[in-house]
Amino acid sequence: PIGERVEDLLGRLSLEEKAGQLTQYFYLRSMIPGLPGPDGADHLAEQDRKALAQSEMVEGEVRAGRAGSLLFVRSPETINALQRIAVEEGPHGIPLLFGYDVIHGLRTIMPVPIAMAASWDPAMTEEAQAVAAREARAVGLSWTFAPMVDIARDPRWGRIVEGAGEDPCLGAAAAAAQVRGFQGERIGAPGRVIAGPKHLAGYGAARGGRDYEDAEISDNELWNVYLPPFRAAIEAGAGNIMSAYMDLGGVPASGNAWLLTDVLREEMGFEGFVVSDANAVRSLTTQHFAADLPDAAARALTAGLDMEMAFEDAAFRRLPEAVRAGRADERDVDEAVRRVLTAKFAMGLFESPYADAEAAPAVLADPAHREVARRAAERSLVLLKNEPWQGPSAGEAHGGMPGGAPVLPLGEGVPSIAVIGRLADSPRDTLGPWVFDEDLAEVTTILAGIRARAGGARVDYAVGEWAPPRVFPSMFDDQEAPGSLPVRPEGFDDDAALAQAVETAQGAEVAIVVVGQAQNQIGERASTSTLELPGRQLELLRAVAATGTPTVALVMSGRPLNLSWAQENLPAIMQVWYPGTRGGEAVAAALFGDIDPAGRLPFTWPRTVGQVPMIHSHYRTFQPEGAGERYWDEASTPLYAFGHGGSYTAFSYSEPRLSSPSIAVGRSVTVSVDVANIGPRDGEEVVQLYIHQRHGTSSRPERELKAFARVAIPAGRSRSVEFVLGPDELSYWSAATRSRVQDATTIDVYVGGSSAASAHAAFDVV
Ligand code: IFM
Repeated sequence: PIGERVEDLLGRLSLEEKAGQLTQYFYLRSMIPGLPGPDGADHLAEQDRKALAQSEMVEGEVRAGRAGSLLFVRSPETINALQRIAVEEGPHGIPLLFGYDVIHGLRTIMPVPIAMAASWDPAMTEEAQAVAAREARAVGLSWTFAPMVDIARDPRWGRIVEGAGEDPCLGAAAAAAQVRGFQGERIGAPGRVIAGPKHLAGYGAARGGRDYEDAEISDNELWNVYLPPFRAAIEAGAGNIMSAYMDLGGVPASGNAWLLTDVLREEMGFEGFVVSDANAVRSLTTQHFAADLPDAAARALTAGLDMEMAFEDAAFRRLPEAVRAGRADERDVDEAVRRVLTAKFAMGLFESPYADAEAAPAVLADPAHREVARRAAERSLVLLKNEPWQGPSAGEAHGGMPGGAPVLPLGEGVPSIAVIGRLADSPRDTLGPWVFDEDLAEVTTILAGIRARAGGARVDYAVGEWAPPRVFPSMFDDQEAPGSLPVRPEGFDDDAALAQAVETAQGAEVAIVVVGQAQNQIGERASTSTLELPGRQLELLRAVAATGTPTVALVMSGRPLNLSWAQENLPAIMQVWYPGTRGGEAVAAALFGDIDPAGRLPFTWPRTVGQVPMIHSHYRTFQPEGAGERYWDEASTPLYAFGHGGSYTAFSYSEPRLSSPSIAVGRSVTVSVDVANIGPRDGEEVVQLYIHQRHGTSSRPERELKAFARVAIPAGRSRSVEFVLGPDELSYWSAATRSRVQDATTIDVYVGGSSAASAHAAFDVV
């Protein structure tokens, strides 16, 4: 039994070795360009020299049994070499846990997590992350720092791309699906890795959307919005949790005993181990919380943190000193070591510590993985708008389709297509952020996807413009493989590029313009103060549309951008996110109607940055007579509602039927609705159920998503969809009673294809 083995081992460790098990180091040797080289370190740049020294220090710590885990190693050979030091040279032969940010794939890159959330298809998400886990495990990783389950309600925050958006119900479903995908049914399942939901808690509520800034979250929002995805991830069995960097209500999350113990362990029942975000224990001194490093180590440990993720001078190295000085209790050290060793035993690392380096390449190259990436991308696409072209040739046939029809899908007979935009032909950007182990040669860009699918059609490409790079460089740029980052060519002439794009559009039957943000303009430390399309992309859209050629915008981004002009002036817009390795193929399949692009928005899409934050589940507050609008200069409605998205067909809803007009507190009601495909072709609908509580011990939001189902319905057919609303859905944390309650009240139910759903029923809770 694992427990006995853990106790036996624990009893043989010195205090220093115990602290070592609780320390995770970055290991950067394999990222140093030119290493291993024949001429040693002499030619290395200053920063690489430091990285090399740090790597050598880490190797020494592993050898001495003073490191329990490493991160940022991803080749099976390097993993095995380091594991061999731990197992064969370390004093107790304890294997290392290798952790890594496998956020949306290792070699096979899935669409970014916000895109997977947009599929509203947890089963697809689970399958995608199971592929990611299989590749990770094949190279010897045993743990991923994912999923990111932070609710994000401010799109200025760059990490919105890594989560599931604004809503706790969708967020909880995405969190649980990803944990199941990464980890399987138990820790140590073959081909799976430990899942580490992050960042507990409230990282997404950073003030002003500025990454790492503090968050002030009311108890109401914490319990009802920010914590539910963590709870769902824990219920799905997550073996690890990462604590956040920032201060939550004035206490750093990584030293917050209430959060890490009362909430996480006692209230949510988490039994795994907690790791800090990178250097977040050290940072307790920067955050004016801890007096010095021993104090930081002692207070993080005592608060409930088990492992420190550290760059070099780990605070947890001071744990023995802190224990000896009476600032920390050795029993807390032991408890944390128990949790870490339990994870290592459960992963089977004592029996098989090494990766099968010879077998790994075949796993990474598995064509079945690329197929999953393609399907995941297909299911994530969101058709924001699709109407007939109203430009100069309105009413005439276009794009191979008869006049008066929506612009998409393109018909088989389309003779020529202009593809425009730098992002249409950028493999690196197609993959999105948090990708370090890609093979760019196998990425299908949107241009390549269209070319492959277009049959006899002529496809002409123009770059159109090249938006300027970030004003402040990305922290990840220097970790990219040399040559993988697209760099604006010196002397790039935007005017000439724009003119060429116009000419290309003029000569085509339809123009597809890809706009959005580069992959390094989103992600960690990629917050933005504007939601405008970067560079001259709006000008490009206008110029192309002005040619009179029907123009479709594809938006490559992980956050809402200002599409007000496009929404008003273009007939069709599709959100393609960063669609991953096979993304271009998926986009082409949607453009030509091989699939129904039926994803839905996982966030409310504001019109301008000034409306931020804007969510669907706001409260119905005081409404002075005749004052519908809250701003005098801008509508108070979003550009696109949460849950919005189209389809190539159309659906109608019956009124929802209830199993009973009234239920007792604690009981359930079944809601059923008939959804009919009344359009011209087979298609998919995301049926969404929202509730509104009319009165209770606290006010409740105008609408709350409580259930959803993505269903395929053939043309002319209808399907009955059933949802159950029980105490889990109908109770909430009431700020007035400071407890979870289910009120006696009346509940409105709305069912439909977005948060603007109108099919309505109501029932009483007595
Ligand atoms: O896992 C990440 C975390 O999300 C942000 N800081 C760095 C960690 C390790 O890369």
